[in-house]
Amino acid sequence: MRTQVAIIGAGPSGLLLGQLLHRAGIDAVIIERQSAERVLSRIRAGILEQTTVDTLHAAGVGERLQRESIVHDGINIVYDNQPHFIDVRALTGAVVTAYGQTEVTRDLMDARAGSGLPTHYEVEEVWLEGMTGSKAVAHFQQHGETRRMECDYIAGCDGFHGVSRRSIPEDRLREFGRAYPFGWIGVLADVPPASPHAVTYAHHARGFALCSMRSLTRSRYYVQCPSSDRVEDWSDARFWDELALRLDARTAGELITGPSIDKSIAPLRSYVAEPMRWGRLFLAGDAAHIVPPTGAKGLNLAVSDVRLLAEALIEHYRERSDAGIDSYSQRALRRVWKVERFSWWATLLLHTFPDTDDFGRRMQEAELDTLTQLESASRSFAEHYAGLAF
Ligand code: APR
Ligand code: PHB
Repeated sequence: MRTQVAIIGAGPSGLLLGQLLHRAGIDAVIIERQSAERVLSRIRAGILEQTTVDTLHAAGVGERLQRESIVHDGINIVYDNQPHFIDVRALTGAVVTAYGQTEVTRDLMDARAGSGLPTHYEVEEVWLEGMTGSKAVAHFQQHGETRRMECDYIAGCDGFHGVSRRSIPEDRLREFGRAYPFGWIGVLADVPPASPHAVTYAHHARGFALCSMRSLTRSRYYVQCPSSDRVEDWSDARFWDELALRLDARTAGELITGPSIDKSIAPLRSYVAEPMRWGRLFLAGDAAHIVPPTGAKGLNLAVSDVRLLAEALIEHYRERSDAGIDSYSQRALRRVWKVERFSWWATLLLHTFPDTDDFGRRMQEAELDTLTQLESASRSFAEHYAGLAF
């Protein structure tokens, strides 16, 4: 088989790249190890930057997003039992859009199927070669058959556990990371959100908490928990009680509880791999970087990589110029590190660390006061939260 771009992974990165290349008349084939249903069954975050919403519209998959998403003017930060509203719209002109990553993935999958574009699901043993040669090849097993996909370029959109990053020689790859000494237990429940007008981030001595939503009838909540905790340690009742304890009285009073329809624990970590290009192989999304979810940046950063990569590949095929391709890694990493810094800073600010001393706690409170009382600090936060300009 032959194509121009072989895309490894049918998560939001791979599907969005496939869609943008398709609209530019560039051939691309997606190779995914899971089934489409399995890909859609993953519960992930759901807060979109303005630049992400614009990119999804430009990719022709914004119609349902426009209809079903919830638009917020800003976010709430709660500490000392007080909510503080950061008015992102007033400070930046941009808004915050609540729309589940699963819905974004579904819209992209529907668009791809609707255009009859090739996606090989449930493949096995994917391996890559030829990245530094005249053509690249993606090998994989499908229905017991060995397949070969020759291509000009490979887009590694296969997430943190994928094969693409591991195809870069170890002596050429630099890895940077931080593991945080806690996780988030997340609950999805078909109950109206406690704060429908704004995602609410709570800093509390008992630990961090977050109130978010998927719709006006489906809510998503998280509380900080020890990394050693297991889901079995958290009954629904314990979860709701702990959440209410960490919120301000008003938001806790608005909390409507119910049975969880999904409950999972996610570790928090920061990770970056450099470079994001190795010859004919490009990395995008979680294949190259992981952010702690505190800043709601995972999906948004993946979309910004894909936007840069699509522009570079379109420039290559349309204008026969490799300027974009040759600077992709450096340009993507410059944005990645800014977003990593914001997510790391928000994590340090809003969580309770086991080894924080009294001085450290006072510093956190003073930083929260500065953030919510100094317009320049609120504006900087709002600009990062809404999405940095390209
Ligand atoms: N071969 C083929 N497909 C693979 C392989 C492989 N060896 N390894 C992984 N995959 C597939 C996975 O099954 C998954 O569907 O690659 C896809 C990667 O998707 P994601 O992990 O969702 O990564 P990405 O598309 O970059 O999306 C990033 O996902 O985790 C969130 O917070 C993150 O929101 C961010 C977004
Ligand atoms: C979510 O809606 O799941 C969500 C919102 C904000 C975050 C992380 C997750 O920072």
